[in-house]
Amino acid sequence: MKLAPSILAADLADLAGALRVCERGGADMIHVDVMDGHFVPNLTFGVPVVAALDRRTDLPLDVHLMVSNPDRLLDDYLAAGADRLAVHLEVAIHLDRLLGRIREAGAWAGVAVNPATPVELLEDALPALDFVLLMSVNPGFAGQAFLPGALDKARRLARMIERRGAAVEIAMDGGLDAETTPRAVAAGVEACVVGSAIFGREDPVAAMAEIRARAGSATT
Ligand code: DX5
Ligand code: ZN
Repeated sequence: MKLAPSILAADLADLAGALRVCERGGADMIHVDVMDGHFVPNLTFGVPVVAALDRRTDLPLDVHLMVSNPDRLLDDYLAAGADRLAVHLEVAIHLDRLLGRIREAGAWAGVAVNPATPVELLEDALPALDFVLLMSVNPGFAGQAFLPGALDKARRLARMIERRGAAVEIAMDGGLDAETTPRAVAAGVEACVVGSAIFGREDPVAAMAEIRARAGSATT
């Protein structure tokens, strides 16, 4: 399993410290939640913040664009150093074109899907995708409760990917912790985004180790 700590849940006045925690804990990438105050109510990291993070770490930046206009913003986030970039299906009018632009920049192309959006809509997009980010909360905030319906979506998506012979990673985001992460992995999830269950803990490095250990014993 890949572990992607979400720095939205960290001390936002000490993002460099959060990056060091991720490095010490053996994170596979840094999840960066970009919110525009329009697609979601919250407002978070602009392009210069992502560029600054990129200067401070060698870990890949996994940028989750929760914005209404990915078409206008995605090139700037790619130039700022995004190594993986997910746009939301709900606002991606020309998804194929957006995914192509992400790949052309040399990054992994992903699509994020809200809890009420069926994964079946992705069937024809699979060849253009490197990963799917299944939301297990309604996007907007860290620290929300896990929505278990995401598990069945992961199983359905895994079957669809296998049937089509596609090489697409299944990622999940929201409400994942030491209890829900093993359930996600058992449902076929390969990359887990974890915010509060890491940065909300007294010892975030130990929390990462515990989540990994519990997920390692989950079986698909
Ligand atoms: C939710 C964000 C998530 C969030 C995860 O809108 O996309 O990445 O930061 O935080 P937790 O793990 O606390 O739900
Ligand atoms: Zn996210």
